[in-house]
Amino acid sequence: MRHFLRDDDLTPEEQAEVLDLAAAMKADPYAAKPLAGPVTVATIYDKPTLRTQASFAAGIAELGGFPMLVDGILAAIGIRESVPDVARILGRQAGEIVWRTFAQGNLEQMASYAGVPVVNALTDEFHPCQLLADLLTLREHKGELRGLTVTFLGDAACNMGNSYALAGALAGLHVRFGAPEGYTPDADVLARAAEICAGTGGSITLDQDPIKAAAGADVLVTDTWVSMGKEDEKAEREAVFSPYALTQELVDHAHPDAVVMHCLPAYRGKEIAAAVLDGPRSIVWDEAENRRHAQKAILAFLWERRGAHV
Ligand code: CP
Repeated sequence: MRHFLRDDDLTPEEQAEVLDLAAAMKADPYAAKPLAGPVTVATIYDKPTLRTQASFAAGIAELGGFPMLVDGILAAIGIRESVPDVARILGRQAGEIVWRTFAQGNLEQMASYAGVPVVNALTDEFHPCQLLADLLTLREHKGELRGLTVTFLGDAACNMGNSYALAGALAGLHVRFGAPEGYTPDADVLARAAEICAGTGGSITLDQDPIKAAAGADVLVTDTWVSMGKEDEKAEREAVFSPYALTQELVDHAHPDAVVMHCLPAYRGKEIAAAVLDGPRSIVWDEAENRRHAQKAILAFLWERRGAHV
C-alpha cells in the first residue's frame, strides 16, 4: 500500500509524474474521475485549517469522490480511541484517508493499520501537500524546476523547512535556508536530502545571513514565525526572526525576475512586508489555488496504486 506521509515517499520520477498529472487536472478539472462511485475520502483536521480543508473537499468532489469530514475534536483520535482502532474503523468506511495532526508517528500508525492510502495534510514534521502545490506553482512561473535557486527565510526548524529540504532535493532545486542558528531543518532530514541531492543534482545550504541567502535567488519563500503550537513563544520568536523578514530590500537582492511564495496564512509586517505579499512578485494566490490540483493528483496517484504493497 502506498501512502504520502512525507515528501520522499515519492521518488524524483514519481514527483514529476504527480506534478504532470496535477497540471493536466488543472487544465481540465472535471475530466478525470478516478474516485467516481463516489469513493469516500475521510478528511480529519486536528489543527486549524482553511486552505487544506477547502482544497481537499473541492478536489475530492472534482475527482468524483465524496469528501467525508471527520470532526477531529469529536473523534479525539489517540485520546478517546487509539490510532490503530480509528485506522481500522476509517479504513472500512473510506477509500483514502487525509489527516492533519501533530505527531508524524501517529500518522505512520494510521497508515500501518488503515488498509487504505493515507495522506499527510500537515504534521509537526512535514507538509508535503503544500510542497507539491509550491512546485506546481514554480513550474508554471519558472518552467524547469531543476537548477532553480529557492531561498527559504526565517524559521526553517518546522514542517515547511523539512519539506522544502526533501521536496526541493527530489526536484533538483538548490535550496538555501536563510535562518538563525538553531532554527534549521532536522539533522536527519538534511542528511536524507543530501542523499537525494546526490542523485538529482540539487543542493541544500544553510546561511545565517539573510542577504547572502537571498542574493541572486530565483524564488524567495517564507512562512509564519509562530507555527501552530508555538503561540506561547511569540514574542521571543519575533525578536529572533525579525532580521529575516521578507522585505522589499531582500527582494532587491534576489534575481531581477524572482518570485515570492508563502503558504499562508501570512502576517503582514511580521515575516513578510505587506508590499511584498501584495506586490508584483508575489505568486501566493496561484500557490493557494494549486493546493487543490496538486492534492487531486496525489489522491489519484495513490488510488491507482492502492493494491501495490511497497
Ligand atoms: N497553508 C496551509 O496549510 O493552510 P491552512 O493551514 O489554512 O490549511
